[in-house]
Amino acid sequence: MVNERNIPRHVAIIMDGNGRWAERHGVPRSEGHRAGAGAVERAVECARDLGIEYLTLYAFSTENWRRSPQEISALMALLRDFLTTKTDTLMKHNVRLLTIGRTGDLPLGVRKLLLDSVEKTKNNTAGTLTLALSYGGRAEIADAAKKIAKLAAMGKLDPEKVDEKLFSTYLYCPELPDPDLMIRTSGELRISNFMLYELAYAELYVTDVLWPDFGKKEMLAAIEAYSKRERRFGGRKNEEQK
Ligand code: IPE
Ligand code: IPE
Ligand code: MG
Repeated sequence: MVNERNIPRHVAIIMDGNGRWAERHGVPRSEGHRAGAGAVERAVECARDLGIEYLTLYAFSTENWRRSPQEISALMALLRDFLTTKTDTLMKHNVRLLTIGRTGDLPLGVRKLLLDSVEKTKNNTAGTLTLALSYGGRAEIADAAKKIAKLAAMGKLDPEKVDEKLFSTYLYCPELPDPDLMIRTSGELRISNFMLYELAYAELYVTDVLWPDFGKKEMLAAIEAYSKRERRFGGRKNEEQK
């Protein structure tokens, strides 16, 4: 059984399978994404009920810009809807919203709603929901390297001081702890450019359930599996971490 002790502090999810869900139900892809938005709501609620402090959801990747303009606008419309209607819910539940990604590439209207929602929820303390939008793990690492290189070129940062710890402070959201558990729905065994730096020692859990069908039962199954894992971080069991 899952108890408070083995609840992961940070759960990151690759929400995949909306298209396959739509195909199975004989409806357009946009309907699959709409059903996926419902699963987002359930996941946020479930994380709050279970006491998961950080929930990070991969909603749109840097590579997803390759999809058709129709599909991209359907996704952006859903994001607009979510931000318009759910910011109050986040406030009610005392959940803070953060984003990671090249959010400057999002349409202006979405960007504005996003900034408003992040600003409005910034003092909430019950949990943190992070949406990865126009997010790529390689882009994040490249963007961090660029910031560091610029500071070094200006003489404001000593290149000799760059180590993993300092590097991580230039990622999109340095305050996010590394994910403990990464869940991917719809059975694909890959990370698709998600949090490459941060997932170094995350436990991975893949379910065949398609994202629109994901709910409390699946979240509990993932946490149950997580609670049975032995995390060693490269050390050895029962030896003190130095
Ligand atoms: C995930 O579902 C949503 C996004 C990537 C935005 P997909 O649209 O990738 O669904 P499949 O993989 O085609 O089933
Ligand atoms: C990963 O899913 C991106 C998101 C869930 C936002 P994709 O469907 O884009 O990934 P691939 O193409 O199967 O690797
Ligand atoms: Mg997919």
